[in-house]
Amino acid sequence: MNRKDDHISGARKQKPLNNDFDRIRFIHRSLPQTSKDKVDLKSRFSSFIIPYPLYINAMTGGSETAKSINKALATIADYFNLPLALGSASAAIKEDKWLESYQVVSKIHTGLTFANIGADKILADAEEAIHMINADLLQIHVNAPQEMIMPEGERDFTKWLDNIETIVKNVPVPVIVKEVGFGMNKSTVAKLKAIGVKTVDVSGSGGTNFALIENERRQKPYTTLNTWGLSTVESLLEANQIQDIEVLASGGIRHAMDIAKALTLGAKAVGMSGWFLRQLDQHPLKTVIENTEHLFDELKTIMTLLGVNTIDAMRDVQVLFDSELTHYCNQRNLT
Ligand SMILES: Cc1cc2nc3c(=O)[nH]c(=O)nc-3n(C[C@H](O)[C@H](O)[C@H](O)COP(=O)(O)O)c2cc1C
Repeated sequence: MNRKDDHISGARKQKPLNNDFDRIRFIHRSLPQTSKDKVDLKSRFSSFIIPYPLYINAMTGGSETAKSINKALATIADYFNLPLALGSASAAIKEDKWLESYQVVSKIHTGLTFANIGADKILADAEEAIHMINADLLQIHVNAPQEMIMPEGERDFTKWLDNIETIVKNVPVPVIVKEVGFGMNKSTVAKLKAIGVKTVDVSGSGGTNFALIENERRQKPYTTLNTWGLSTVESLLEANQIQDIEVLASGGIRHAMDIAKALTLGAKAVGMSGWFLRQLDQHPLKTVIENTEHLFDELKTIMTLLGVNTIDAMRDVQVLFDSELTHYCNQRNLT
């Protein structure tokens, strides 16, 4: 089987158990002093204004299954004008025959499209990835644990930071550096900021688990790594320590309440991958569109109850942490 198809089928059957967003609560207020029709879900990051604080995060390209998923994702993205991140361009960089599995989206989706490559790639690969789909933005993924567990994966990470720096300084579009479900600590975010990265997607644990997916592809699994990583909540708290860098959140976003909590922890927008993949697996496209609509309606409802009219104002909302999360903050000196 093709590697991307292994990842798709692995991710489809995952049912994550722990999600740190459950360690956070909002404080109820009996007098919200706003009305639902005043709530505006518009958000902005990088140089873009987006109608909802949500983008479809990188998944597919590079197989026939990937092509049909990309078609469906493009239909959803176009319906709501959501940014759509495509999966790693590496398959199309290696073999032209896979180009169409990525380019298919531009026939359907007229909004923002993000290209995606790994941090092992060089500037010429980044330029090719952008060019092949005329991307508005480039995501560079950092996925060391996945590579180490992947039987055929990368083992040498000495050039990643230099590769990222060269790409960030030379490509004609904005860049996001993203994880793939293992999260980021404050020192990673500081290092990325120091080389000119303006936006990170912390993509923490709590959702799609690539340690598990790659371990299933190994004859002798590294089972102790199945719980490796920082959660999305921990990563957001870490990233908040670094000033003047834009933070996006992905990893285990399940519903509108998680989106609201991520915004409160400083995310400008959230990315969802696994949720869309499983929705498409379980429902016809029309229902997925209705369920996405419902997600936004519920987010508006939560914001109304919190008395908040804008996405920017969400970061001023106070939340309560449970004792484990409080303990994490204390140990890591997170203020
Ligand atoms: C099937 C699948 C394929 C993925 N492929 C990529 C990829 O090519 N590049 C990338 O940066 N992230 C990739 N991801 C990771 C997601 O972008 C995201 O960081 C991660 O799945 C956590 O989000 P989630 O819990 O909403 O799925 C993939 C995720 C899934 C489910």
